[in-house]
Amino acid sequence: MCGIVGYVGDRPCRDLLIAGLEKLEYRGYDSAGVSVISDGEIDSVRAVGNLANLREAIAQHGGDGGVAVAAPPATIGVAHTRWATHGRVTEENAHPHGDCEDKIHIVLNGIVENHAELRKELQAEGHEFSSETDAEIVSHLIERHYDGDLTTAVRAAFAELRGHYAFVAMHLDHRDTLVAARKECPLVVGRAGEENFVASAIPAFLAETRRVLTVENDEVVTITPDGAEITDADGNPVSRDEDEVTWDEDAAEKGGYPTFMKKEIHEQADAVAETITDRLPGLDSVDLSGVELDDDYLRTAERIMIVACGTSYHAGLVGRYAIEQWARVPVGMDIASEYRYREPVNRPNDLVIGITQSGETADTLAAMRLAREGGSKVLAVTNIMGSQATRDADAVLYTRAGLEIGVAATKTFVSQVAAMYLLGLRLAELRGTMPRERIAELVAEIKSLPSKIDETIAKTDKRAAAIARGHADRRFFLYLGRHIGLPICLEGALKLKEISYIPADAYAAGEMKHGPIALLDEDTPVVCVATDSPVLDKVLSNVEEVRARGADVIAVATEGSDRVAEVADQTLFVPRTDWMLQPILAILPLQLLAYYIARENGLNVDQPRNLAKTVTVE
Ligand code: F6R
Repeated sequence: MCGIVGYVGDRPCRDLLIAGLEKLEYRGYDSAGVSVISDGEIDSVRAVGNLANLREAIAQHGGDGGVAVAAPPATIGVAHTRWATHGRVTEENAHPHGDCEDKIHIVLNGIVENHAELRKELQAEGHEFSSETDAEIVSHLIERHYDGDLTTAVRAAFAELRGHYAFVAMHLDHRDTLVAARKECPLVVGRAGEENFVASAIPAFLAETRRVLTVENDEVVTITPDGAEITDADGNPVSRDEDEVTWDEDAAEKGGYPTFMKKEIHEQADAVAETITDRLPGLDSVDLSGVELDDDYLRTAERIMIVACGTSYHAGLVGRYAIEQWARVPVGMDIASEYRYREPVNRPNDLVIGITQSGETADTLAAMRLAREGGSKVLAVTNIMGSQATRDADAVLYTRAGLEIGVAATKTFVSQVAAMYLLGLRLAELRGTMPRERIAELVAEIKSLPSKIDETIAKTDKRAAAIARGHADRRFFLYLGRHIGLPICLEGALKLKEISYIPADAYAAGEMKHGPIALLDEDTPVVCVATDSPVLDKVLSNVEEVRARGADVIAVATEGSDRVAEVADQTLFVPRTDWMLQPILAILPLQLLAYYIARENGLNVDQPRNLAKTVTVE
């Protein structure tokens, strides 16, 4: 999750830009950079690591630009914090990126999907690249189209890009103009008197102005000291009213949400989009070329073993269903802290997958090491570049959820599930276990998940809050599900336990009659995951059993599934998608339910008692 800040006005801007980046640090980053127009040239400094490193690089470079002391300070510039996706964490790959003549500099958030083909085209035309990033394409594309008008060139470049991204461009010949464009990734303009800001999030300029213009999808905005002009992708002017932001600094860090957890719940569509977009480049294939695992190995591995803890373990359970169903490879699952102590049998032809968002969980790392010692190949599925898991594994599949501050995992869970879907599909593709048409169907459905995630949250938020109000004083919750619904029950119950401190249990619905049914009475809410699946009828008969004991049933169901609404007391509907993908939507109302129950009880959801974000000790 990168950060963008741009400024044009009458004040020296380098410190303003870096102050803006500091406000975006919470998003996580691994390198940073700033470019300003100073004394007739673009002066750019980039550094790997944190902003202190960038400040030090600027100091070494020579204060305000390494130019003659008498030069007036720069009053236009762009700055960026990068979270590496394409290309390693190096100074060359840090933004801003320039064109061949070093007259155009850009900063970009998100992913350009068609970067490889555009790079080839541009190289054939003679453009020379200095980084491995997808972002650098954009400065060269603008160069290709530039004919004296920066806005027109940006619009033409924008039309050639695919993916989800937001970028800001600056040209040496336009010392009072920044041009920015947005496709899905956020972009906002901060309006002040004789100066204007553009950024990926409001906190970047909140200390300077509270007047905000939101740039919408497929819009281009030209920013000068006098104002901001928004146009659509065809160049038609768009009028937009300014908003006055009333948040305080603390709320600003949380993007206007009351808590980090709520903000991160709302970032889930973006997290999944970042995880999947460039890995699904076509209609019926998965590109995991960034994951350095030999195709032959994936084709011939005899067994897969998944090790993880907590929420990551639940993501692994969903992954197991997908891999077994699609790729027909046997998958074992183990809680990492159990696996490491049970003298597991590892064979060279086993692929062991360690799922850990932090990449630092001691038990998961130990389990991965043990598997490697036993001769298995180990794949880490992690969110954090450079974490121990990435160093200990043979290969890494990154989730790209951005930094998660709330202790309860939300956006990292859905991006882990998305990563496991990609892996399942890739294995099926390599092993020839699914027809192309079925792969194409799933690819299309996976691509639509980000917008369905947003839709689910928008549609279930208020209802989950209302259900929470009616149940916040209950002493115990039971979660029931079958098949792919079961890991979602486990995860929903974990969320409730950790942030609301209310005891909860999650069970395979078929096991109920073997004991847990004794727990039920009129005071026990039973949360049922009853999304469409081949086992829905069975889930529904379990719901009937529960209701016969007077328990109050809260169901998560697929839109249009009236049968569920008829038997449940309250139903939270999620959009229809392929039934194997329903878990990634079904968890969302359960996160919201747990969240609102905890809030009703006045609890600190971001920092629950007794818990730390990363468990690094045994
Ligand atoms: C629950 C939660 C934990 C983590 C677990 C593993 O909300 O966050 O259960 O999932 O501690 O952490 P990682 O994924 O960092 O290994």
